[in-house]
Amino acid sequence: MDADFIPGRHSSESLTVAIIDQDPSYRADINRYYEHSDDLVSVIFQGETLTDLYEYLGSNTVDILLINVEATKADPAWYRNLLTYDTQKIILVAEQLHIVQETELIHENVDLIYKYTPMGTYTQKMLSFTPIGQDKDIFTSVNAAAKEHTDKKISLFYSPKGGVGTTTIAVNTAAQLTLKDKDVLLVDFALFGHVSVAFNLPQGTKGLSDVVTYLEQGRQDDEELDEVLRQSIETVSLQGKKLSVLSAGSPLKMAALSLDHTDRIMEALQRLDYDMIVVDSSTDLSERNISLMSNATDLFFVLTTDVAANWSMLSSVDIIRKLHRPLQNRYLIINAYHDSIGFPISEMESMLSMKVSAVIPHKYEQVQGYANRGIVMAEKPALKINKHYRSIANLIEPMFEKKEVAKRNGLRKGVLA
Ligand SMILES: Nc1ncnc2c1ncn2[C@@H]1O[C@H](COP(=O)(O)OP(=O)(O)OP(=O)(O)O)[C@@H](O)[C@H]1O
Ligand SMILES: [Mg+2]
Repeated sequence: MDADFIPGRHSSESLTVAIIDQDPSYRADINRYYEHSDDLVSVIFQGETLTDLYEYLGSNTVDILLINVEATKADPAWYRNLLTYDTQKIILVAEQLHIVQETELIHENVDLIYKYTPMGTYTQKMLSFTPIGQDKDIFTSVNAAAKEHTDKKISLFYSPKGGVGTTTIAVNTAAQLTLKDKDVLLVDFALFGHVSVAFNLPQGTKGLSDVVTYLEQGRQDDEELDEVLRQSIETVSLQGKKLSVLSAGSPLKMAALSLDHTDRIMEALQRLDYDMIVVDSSTDLSERNISLMSNATDLFFVLTTDVAANWSMLSSVDIIRKLHRPLQNRYLIINAYHDSIGFPISEMESMLSMKVSAVIPHKYEQVQGYANRGIVMAEKPALKINKHYRSIANLIEPMFEKKEVAKRNGLRKGVLA
């Protein structure tokens, strides 16, 4: 058997490669190898820095980029910049094994190789592809069957980054569902929850504190637990309609919530008679949040454009993926989007491999102004931003009319590819 045998190859077309590395002898070795071996791959460009490469790509197309990791350090935006060219694959080359271990791969189309590897392995890496643009749905996932079969919807609002507007969206989405006559329970599972502040609930509202204390006592009686929960829930009035709110407990109590206890609370909440449950959470990857992520039927991941450019958050996407809830609906919401940012949402989608489901515009004066005065925006039906919160509520339960929601969920033409 010949491991190098290539089945069915007739054409003489080859894949083009550009090499960025400081070491001319390394570049020459690769160049020479492909000159003298079969014609599958041909090196068409060599350079020392990314600047050389950007210039070349300005007027040429290259299939595969072989870039020394060291060269990427000069430009933190290298990946975003390279995305604008028609390249199929980027292979990062690490000279030391510790770099191989430390480098975080940020996209399916970026691969990593140890520099001093036999050429056969280089060739294999070059010839395996995931088509760009076809993998956007690996995180976002909308499951029609799940929508039909879950009677108790649990919508979780989560962000790996603080201050992006998660609570504002959770509160206003719950409010819009209430205005459509849904019997909604809004639960604040954040470490430092401030949903109670949004509704001007009296200071000293116990919220989940008593519930956590009850669970800490090791009591197993479900009926008792349900009763403690009922006692902890308050109702607020929105245009004469009732929204039930279960506020967060003290930060110490919230931090103590284990996976099992959070699971038990979520089970108990489903026994209470609500049409749907909306959950606000904080950024920590605690057991509490892992439980919430796996209990949610609809998971809303909230980001702003500046945060999405930060790849470190991909680890939480990874965890959500690993929880493997095939029937869970998952959505990515971009909050506080500003036209002048000039950061195309399509770029964000390909960086994160997620499809954006809705975009909420930046309206600081409105959002903050009403918050400062202790008014929930749902009390002002004419307020335009409410259309955006209705768009999100409509993802949970499609029951709004076209004119009530934002056009194309705020995904305007031009902003999105
Ligand atoms: N669409 C928007 N446009 C402008 N400002 C907004 C928007 N949405 C929320 N904000 C503002 O952003 C700030 C943070 O909002 P919020 O508390 O909802 O975020 P969060 O992600 O829940 O924060 P935390 O990490 O503290 O829980 C608030 O000042 C809020 O008024
Ligand atoms: Mg919050």
